[in-house]
Amino acid sequence: MGNTQPTPPSSELRETGTLDIKDSRTSKSYSVKILEGGVEGDTAVRAMDFRQIKTSPDEFGLMTYDPAFMNTASCKSAITFIDGEKGILRYRGYPIEQLAEKSTFLEVAWLLRHGELPTQGEYDQWVHDITYHTYVHENIKTFLQGFRYDAHPMSMLCSAVAALSSFYPEAKQIHDPEQRNIAIVRLLAKLPTLAAFCYRHVKGLPFIYPDNDLSYVENFLSMVARMSESKYEANPVFVKALEILFILHADHEQNCSASAVRAVGSSQVDPFSAIAAGIAALYGPLHGGANEQVLRMIKEIGDKKNVAAFIENVKSGKGAKLMGFGHRVYKSYDPRAKIVKKLADEVFAQIGVDKDLEIALELERIALSDDYFVSRKLYPNVDFYTGLIYRSMAFPTDFFTVLFAVARTSGWLAQWEEMLNDKEQKIARPRQIYVGYGERPFKSKLTNHFPNAKKPAPAK
Ligand code: CMC
Repeated sequence: MGNTQPTPPSSELRETGTLDIKDSRTSKSYSVKILEGGVEGDTAVRAMDFRQIKTSPDEFGLMTYDPAFMNTASCKSAITFIDGEKGILRYRGYPIEQLAEKSTFLEVAWLLRHGELPTQGEYDQWVHDITYHTYVHENIKTFLQGFRYDAHPMSMLCSAVAALSSFYPEAKQIHDPEQRNIAIVRLLAKLPTLAAFCYRHVKGLPFIYPDNDLSYVENFLSMVARMSESKYEANPVFVKALEILFILHADHEQNCSASAVRAVGSSQVDPFSAIAAGIAALYGPLHGGANEQVLRMIKEIGDKKNVAAFIENVKSGKGAKLMGFGHRVYKSYDPRAKIVKKLADEVFAQIGVDKDLEIALELERIALSDDYFVSRKLYPNVDFYTGLIYRSMAFPTDFFTVLFAVARTSGWLAQWEEMLNDKEQKIARPRQIYVGYGERPFKSKLTNHFPNAKKPAPAK
């Protein structure tokens, strides 16, 4: 067998049938094209095809109403495929299990962006470029030092990435492939440096500069943990674990943060600003912030004997959710969670099982056999175990989501560039169904509109 690659599938949507609609208000019938895309048989109708459906010519026309985008495809994408029912995740067609076992994070980052695996020459250049852009401007250090000692590292990271936009004004030239390339390289290269600086600031430790002799992950661990030693040697089990976790977190198609990056990027802002929007979205406890919440929940439970009562409280709907369980898309299992659980076993074999892990395992055991969770198809997601691994690597709890952000930057950038190259995309601008008041005359209830002024201004 030669090393030939299959031809990339066409991004064109094919007409596969029609949807016949009858409007009961007008008795008029309409025919809307059913479109099919890709090799996995995703089908959709164009929302704009519904606009023709109206009761009078001056009416706006029918919209589709879809809070939280439960059933709306906002784009065509060739990057990541998920089958939530079957628990499948693939980047550019490659199963996540194979990538996690055999690839590196930077190879995956190339793959996500370019659609194909790099040749050795391409990979060497990519690693070289990313390695040699890891340094940040010295003023960024001063900027980070302005944060309080107890600032959340996600707030710091989000602000620092947004601030980078001001250091690279040329990144605004998003339609110039060369500028796009250097901005992408800079973001991938500098994220670990910024993340490590955030960590060191919170800890009150001096910033450690990048070491260009180390791999991406080793360099990151060196910037986080190095003290007086001239060369940092990371624990190989931790290096392997982090490399795999970065691969697992690299992309996850149109999730909340990727959608944020695409929406903000669609205004044609520079990529530093768009990625900062992704970091903000990831920060939330229902998204990337969940790994942090899992650990906080375990701390709150405190002991294995309290798990059953905690689960009852979750089921009653009065308590919090079971963090690290459930997923909008995965309804059989999260394939990433399977890999992470195996990884956790390897890490714990070296570090040892402690009270927190015992609580986690008991939570998992009860939840997986309880009808409340089984009937709602609530399984452990990737965040359930990652927090435990990060904790065993001695990362502070509020740093977990930062690790997620470093890895996800590769996916966000691939999504951002795909969006820019998609001729069908425009500035993201959803519609609404207005449910507020009709027109009414303005009559203020105030007697003074400028209460801080020395002399009260006359009432309008
Ligand atoms: N614990 C208890 N009940 C839950 C949970 C949970 N973790 N998740 C969902 N449910 C219940 C929910 O109350 C609802 O019950 P009912 O039908 O009786 O009203 C049912 O399950 C369906 O839930 P939903 O809220 O409609 O599901 P969703 O698709 O809107 O939410 C989710 C998905 C991930 C936001 C949610 O499962 C959740 O909040 N999980 C906990 C947070 C978490 O672990 N997030 C990480 C997600 S994976 C990584 C990432 O995205 O970054």
